[in-house]
Amino acid sequence: MLRPILRLGDSILTEPTRPVEAITPAIEALIDDMVETMYAAPGIGLAAPQVGVSLRIFVVDLSVGRDPAGPSVMINPEFVLREGMQLEEEGCLSVPGFTATVARPKRVVVSGLDRHGDTHQLDGTGLLARALQHEMDHLNSCLFVDRLRGISRDLIVRKIKKLSKAGKW
Ligand code: NI
Repeated sequence: MLRPILRLGDSILTEPTRPVEAITPAIEALIDDMVETMYAAPGIGLAAPQVGVSLRIFVVDLSVGRDPAGPSVMINPEFVLREGMQLEEEGCLSVPGFTATVARPKRVVVSGLDRHGDTHQLDGTGLLARALQHEMDHLNSCLFVDRLRGISRDLIVRKIKKLSKAGKW
């Protein structure tokens, strides 16, 4: 089932998230919905707060569904390693129509549970490292605009306020 993606300005995006305590049928349904919603958007990553659920879950798939290995699911993820630095353009399904250059570590390793409750790790460089960090940020109430310097952030926020006033956000 597709779930609506919340946009910047929605308070759920900045609420603290809770760890998942058990992988219940409701959690499995949430994961299925998140993958479907991410593919439909289309996007390469989606975190539970973006669909209004304040739990520590995200999904990523750089192939947007073309890779038969399927999406990676991370439940209660933690960083194991962060190293190097990359500067690339980045966007977010919760901030549609806007991108900005964001500094991120070049490589990250994240450890968490898969959808069966087994521990697994994702080791990513480049775009995967960026996606993993972006989704981890969502679990910590942080959007990519919060990582921008004052002026670039203010510019985007001001444009969104205008769109919002015009009923276009
Ligand atoms: Ni995002």
